[in-house]
This record gives sequence, C-alpha cells and structure tokens, in this order.
Amino acid sequence: MVCLGNICRSPLAEGILRKKALERGLALDIDSAGTSDFHVGDSPDKRTIDNALSHDVDLRNLRGRQFTQEDYQKFDRIFAMDTQNLEDIHALAPDAHSAAKAELLLNLVYPGRDVSVPDPYYGGPDGFEKVFQLVATACDKLVDELENNPKLEQ
Ligand code: 4NP
Repeated sequence: MVCLGNICRSPLAEGILRKKALERGLALDIDSAGTSDFHVGDSPDKRTIDNALSHDVDLRNLRGRQFTQEDYQKFDRIFAMDTQNLEDIHALAPDAHSAAKAELLLNLVYPGRDVSVPDPYYGGPDGFEKVFQLVATACDKLVDELENNPKLEQ
C-alpha cells in the first residue's frame, strides 16, 4: 500500500487489510510505504491512528518508510492511493512486468475510473473518516478476490 507520506492513507490501508486478512484466514505479506522520505521512521498521523482505533484497527506500531525499487521484487500486488503516487512508483519500475503489479487501490471498487483516495492531511476530521470508508471498501473487494484465488490455498 503506497501513498505520499506513509503516515495517513497507506498505513491505514495496511492496518485494515491486515485485519481483514486475519478475519478471513488469508496468509498475506502486507506492508506500506511512502513515495517521499518526509516521514521515514515516524508513527502514523495521530488523527489517522485515532480514527482507525475507533474502528478497532490499531496502527500504533507502524513506522514510515520510503518505497524502493526492491518492493517490486518483494510484492505481487502494489496499490497506490492516488494517481501521483502511481506515476511516481511506475517511474521506479525496473521493467514492464514490475510496472504492471502497481495499480490504483480504488480501481478495485470503481474499475477503470482512476479515482484517488483523497489526501486527508490538510483537512478536517471528516476527511479521515471518508478515507477509512473508501479504503475499507477496497480492502473488502481485495480479500473477496484473494479468497477465491486457488494459489493462496493453504
Ligand atoms: P499520506 O498524507 O500521503 O496519506 O501519508 C500525507 C502526509 C504527509 C504529507 C503529505 C501527505 N506531508 O507533506 O508531510
């Protein structure tokens, strides 16, 4: 899960997906990163932590890191929160096969529409709840899809 700062949208997406994967018994290797190095080593934004906790998702142990080209080797699927994040990680892809692993998270919900998860950083509390709902809906779609993937059967 990738956003700009790795303190609002992508750590939330990581936490929500971890919880949903656990609930469905899916063994997934899940992580998040930022395209920038602005918040490397930082906890998620307090407003994101508090909103997530109100939904029983605990982000307090997560720390910011920057997306690197090696992430293309480590992960099968890469989800960008907005179109700028997607452009930035596509620019780091070593080849077309890698680039094809990266897509917009909300295309799981609105296929082909290229809708971004809005950045809540400079806005009010409503923005954090809106982001939670959008990301949770996308993660539901993803676990539904993965649950029906025979490659993941244990
Ligand atoms: P995020 O939000 O990309 O969802 O983590 C932001 C966090 C920090 C900044 C921008 C966006 N910033 O400019 O520091």
